[in-house]
Amino acid sequence: MKALQITEFGKAPVLTELPDPTPEPHQAVVDVVAAAINPLDLKIAAGTMRDFFPAPLPYVPGTDFSGRIATPGPGWQIGDPVIGRLDPGTGGAFAEKVVIDAAQLTSAPSQIELKTAAGIPTAAATAWQALVEVANVQPGQTVLIHAAAGGVGSFAVQIARRLGARVIATASGSGVAIAEKLGADSVIDYRQTAFDSRLRGIDVVLDTVGGDVLTRSRAVLKPGGLLVTTPSPAEGAEFVFHTSDAARLAKVADLEVLVDRTLPLADGAQAFAYLAEGHARGKVLLSVA
Ligand SMILES: NC(=O)c1ccc[n+]([C@@H]2O[C@H](COP(=O)([O-])OP(=O)(O)OC[C@H]3O[C@@H](n4cnc5c(N)ncnc54)[C@H](OP(=O)(O)O)[C@@H]3O)[C@@H](O)[C@H]2O)c1
Repeated sequence: MKALQITEFGKAPVLTELPDPTPEPHQAVVDVVAAAINPLDLKIAAGTMRDFFPAPLPYVPGTDFSGRIATPGPGWQIGDPVIGRLDPGTGGAFAEKVVIDAAQLTSAPSQIELKTAAGIPTAAATAWQALVEVANVQPGQTVLIHAAAGGVGSFAVQIARRLGARVIATASGSGVAIAEKLGADSVIDYRQTAFDSRLRGIDVVLDTVGGDVLTRSRAVLKPGGLLVTTPSPAEGAEFVFHTSDAARLAKVADLEVLVDRTLPLADGAQAFAYLAEGHARGKVLLSVA
């Protein structure tokens, strides 16, 4: 099978030919239709996540994929459309075939194309983990979602809205209209207006940017409000450490997937470089089949 591979940390992934995976009895093999790139893939490839995810070299990056069952493990039939998330330590999604514990797969949503569904696993389930499991957002609360047009943010706006919260978002340029369309009640263009000059009394802030945005977010919380962050652990904030969970994935499978662009697997290095710029509108996908 064809796969993107990294042979040295800090180097771009290269398309290569590898043997097809061989499943154990509890595993399934999936013919990948598309895969999604997440910032974590870039961090692992750069070699900066070795303390958390000791990826062995050579390494096939990628956690998120959609596809069809080729070799069914328990509970699946050949041809079933599925989505899933591989362990970041082993990676493997940026390939024509993946092997995964069959219990880690979720049926692909029927309302969107299978290739688009690849955008769901990490970003949508992290947003769910942050807002539902960590922050326990309640109807009527006010939630500030930073980077609302980004991968995690675009799902977080939809989830917060669905939970009955009042949603305030930050974005810039074309991202403002995107955040509004996804369901934000009001959007602050962060390049025009400092959000912390406008907001106070927020129940929950979801920070997916870090640094200065994280620091300034503390001032907008109401007393007892919660700051939830995803880029890295920070004092005074709840860090979300996303874990793969097929049951959680099923809960977010019907969300709208905002696709920034789709590139062929062979252009993986270009896709990595684009995501690294940090201005994606939703998900960057790799088309595999
Ligand atoms: N801890 C975990 O388990 C976990 C899980 C998932 C993700 N993460 C982390 O969460 C972070 C976000 O992930 P992602 O997939 O959402 O990234 P992403 O899709 O690359 O985010 C890009 C978005 O960030 C926006 N942005 C950049 N600077 C901003 C600012 N100062 N204010 C508001 N928006 C800003 C950009 O909008 P503009 O173009 O308008 O600037 C763009 O839309 C990454 O660090 C990732 O590693 C962690």
